[in-house]
Amino acid sequence: MTTVLSGLRQETISSLDRLSPNQQLLPLTAITNQRDRLEIGGCDVVELVEQYGSPLYILDEVSLRTACQQYRDALKQHYQGTSQVLYASKAWSCLAVCAIVGSEGLGIDVVSAGEILTALRAGVSSSLIYFHGNNKSVEELSYALESSCTVVVDNWHELKTLDRLAQEQTSKPRIMLRLTPGIECHTHEYIQTGHIDSKFGFDPNEIEAVFAFLAASSLNCIGIHAHIGSQIFELQPHQDIGGVMVQWFQLAGEKYGLQFSELNIGGGLGIRYVESDDPPSIEDWIKAVVAGVTEAFIGAGLPLPKLLCEPGRSLVGSTCVTAYTIGGSKTVPDIRTYITVDGGMSDNPRPITYQSQYRAVVANHMSAALSQTVTIAGKHCESGDILIKDIQLPTTNPGDILVVFGTGAYNYSMASNYNRLPKPAAVLVEGGASSLIIKRETREDLLRQDCLPERLCS
Ligand SMILES: Cc1ncc(COP(=O)(O)O)c(C=O)c1O
Repeated sequence: MTTVLSGLRQETISSLDRLSPNQQLLPLTAITNQRDRLEIGGCDVVELVEQYGSPLYILDEVSLRTACQQYRDALKQHYQGTSQVLYASKAWSCLAVCAIVGSEGLGIDVVSAGEILTALRAGVSSSLIYFHGNNKSVEELSYALESSCTVVVDNWHELKTLDRLAQEQTSKPRIMLRLTPGIECHTHEYIQTGHIDSKFGFDPNEIEAVFAFLAASSLNCIGIHAHIGSQIFELQPHQDIGGVMVQWFQLAGEKYGLQFSELNIGGGLGIRYVESDDPPSIEDWIKAVVAGVTEAFIGAGLPLPKLLCEPGRSLVGSTCVTAYTIGGSKTVPDIRTYITVDGGMSDNPRPITYQSQYRAVVANHMSAALSQTVTIAGKHCESGDILIKDIQLPTTNPGDILVVFGTGAYNYSMASNYNRLPKPAAVLVEGGASSLIIKRETREDLLRQDCLPERLCS
């Protein structure tokens, strides 16, 4: 039997791997320990901050491995064809995350030469690296081809550039095509990418011309890809993708002699940031995707394609928290009390960018009664640098450790040095041990790329 903080209550369950990490507010191993402190991966969070400094990203290895295994095993169990899960590393690209995900048998979706390098250095085979992006440079494309990655082609310019680069290759480059399937999702408009009105992918109107070009090209197109959005709680849009994509598989084969073998249905499964969020489990999402693809391909009399999906947020989002140190506070009578922390929009730009909501606890007195409604403000020179509006917390004091949940996805990877704040460190926790996976930037690091022309030196 295992004890976990499910939601914010301590609960005993028979086994951690029965929980879908994306449905939990906290990492799977989170508990309140005997000192009334938050513990993750067997490590006392307050002690981690003492050891590694603040703010600090804390990544729970058990949660990350469990999410990988649930995607991988659900696909194997429910899909009759072959399959491959890719981690959308834009969610958090660093060596340790890519290495863990790779060791669980996942491939990696990358969107830049930097993400390719990270995946390769983490030991992921280039045969499992898929290169996305709507404006890949010639240099990036050449690097991807030299490294034998699969390129997911986004537009005509790229297709023609690749065909030209392919003339210098000994074997035909492996590519896929990104198409906009025109499926709308109820999510924040800034992170919808599957619209017809989208900067990503080929429009359905162009598909026949693209297929005709491919049939005469030096490229080996192995299949098609679509990604319809992010932080999605409904199953239907993902179930519908198979039905849209199958017609293009059929058209490519019958009219243009292109034998596609792979179908990539993207990522997008949501996670629980606040109590009211209710995403499906990883297994239910896979079942919906598989049902849609299987029905569509069997219905069309086509063999089942190799099925790929590329989750980002639902793999890594709920596996990490950010610990901050509380500083001062300010009460505006009859309006609100602000509590300030030592980070903000530079380590988590999602609230100011997407008005995203988060939950948090005071990690050094977990069971203290919730006695105040406060707003957690970051330390940046922006009035909008608010991490959490109107959250219930116990009485706090300067020096208390505030832990914000669900910060594994699109936090470190979107972090900046705004106001010249050094980026925080990140630690991996497992079985009572912690390991540094990203060093804290120093003040000197902030000057590393600056150049001072001689004539400006005093
Ligand atoms: C092409 C593509 N694949 C996968 C993802 C991952 O999406 P998510 O993190 O919502 O799973 C994204 C995110 O924007 C994407 O653009």
